[in-house]
Amino acid sequence: MSRLSLAVVVGAGDGRATSDRAFTETIADSRKKQGMTQSTYIIGADIIKNAFSMADYVSTIEKAFELYGRGQVQMPPKMYLTFDKGDLRCMPVYIPAMNTAGVKNVNVHPANDNLPTVMATITLIDPDTGFPLAIMDGTHITRMRTGAAGGVAAKYLSRADSKTAALVGTGTQAASQLEALLITRPAISKVVLFDLRQESMEHFADTVRQTHGLEATCANSVKKAVKNADIVITTTTVRSPIVKSDWIKPGTHINAIGADAKGKQELDPAILKRAKVVIDNWEQASHSGEINVAVAEGLITQKEIYADIGEIATAKKPARQTAEEITVFDSTGLAIQDISAATMIYRKLISDPKTKASIKSFEFF
Ligand SMILES: NC(=O)c1ccc[n+]([C@@H]2O[C@H](COP(=O)([O-])OP(=O)(O)OC[C@H]3O[C@@H](n4cnc5c(N)ncnc54)[C@H](O)[C@@H]3O)[C@@H](O)[C@H]2O)c1
Repeated sequence: MSRLSLAVVVGAGDGRATSDRAFTETIADSRKKQGMTQSTYIIGADIIKNAFSMADYVSTIEKAFELYGRGQVQMPPKMYLTFDKGDLRCMPVYIPAMNTAGVKNVNVHPANDNLPTVMATITLIDPDTGFPLAIMDGTHITRMRTGAAGGVAAKYLSRADSKTAALVGTGTQAASQLEALLITRPAISKVVLFDLRQESMEHFADTVRQTHGLEATCANSVKKAVKNADIVITTTTVRSPIVKSDWIKPGTHINAIGADAKGKQELDPAILKRAKVVIDNWEQASHSGEINVAVAEGLITQKEIYADIGEIATAKKPARQTAEEITVFDSTGLAIQDISAATMIYRKLISDPKTKASIKSFEFF
């Protein structure tokens, strides 16, 4: 007898069980009668936004990168389904040292009108039983964990005396990139922006001044934004390079965030040739990261990639070694970022009885 049918029949163990009832009774009903139900929590973005700061994500993501660097995770590369108008990515991971596992499903539909371009959900799984502990909003977590990864990369790869950051693209990811950067590089005092959407760029500059108290200026070209920057962060949706090698001065660190699908690139491949390139994961980066086009065109090979971020976080390879070298972090986004962040959030929320009581739950099983 399967575990499923056993649960149903035992649940109806009042002598009146019939095969009809066994079929119509849900597993949850049956387990409820036995006092065996377990709740799956449904955790929305609002409660997550209010309870966690970027600093929480930065420390969680740094630890996750260390586990990844020690090879202590099961994480196949993300899988893509390609639709006419977008794609769906499926990102599973098991992290034994955190006793956690889960899957993020995330779409990218650039033509969406009344829905966001990117929407994500995370299912958090108990590795001991396979039970779905929580179904969580993954859109906010994606934003925060991507920012945090950029912050961690800048901590290891940028110059400690970096003062000026250039943001190319001032949309959703740019805000969380800057927030995390200011945690790991608090000496940043000036931000230079460039975006095709003038209004968005000016609004972003106002927010930087008000929220972070920094000098923020809007440039009228990518060149003007990046040419004096110590740290450059690219978060655009472009598919061909907009940052030229000639504009990047020695000693610059670049967080290349925007390219996360096949055929996308933001940087002149000549920058990749000049720089110490750190990726997050070879399979993902060569398929869909900043390096993917250069790899496909034979301009760079795996041998020319300096390290992955796990090797840097565990000091298996030295991070920045000179004040002159140019460094690039190519981020595609790893499932370990999503699930380590989701686990931190779930555990903290559920450990507080008052918060726990305020979260919706459902008994699937
Ligand atoms: N690496 C990762 O882990 C990761 C995670 C999430 C999103 N992303 C990618 O990051 C990119 C940005 O995502 P988002 O949510 O911030 O999008 P968004 O639409 O909020 O912002 C993108 C910004 O880029 C600007 N832009 C487009 N073309 C430009 C150009 N030629 N020059 C200057 N600015 C330009 C747009 O005007 C917009 O403000 C997307 O490509 C997304 O797929 C990567």
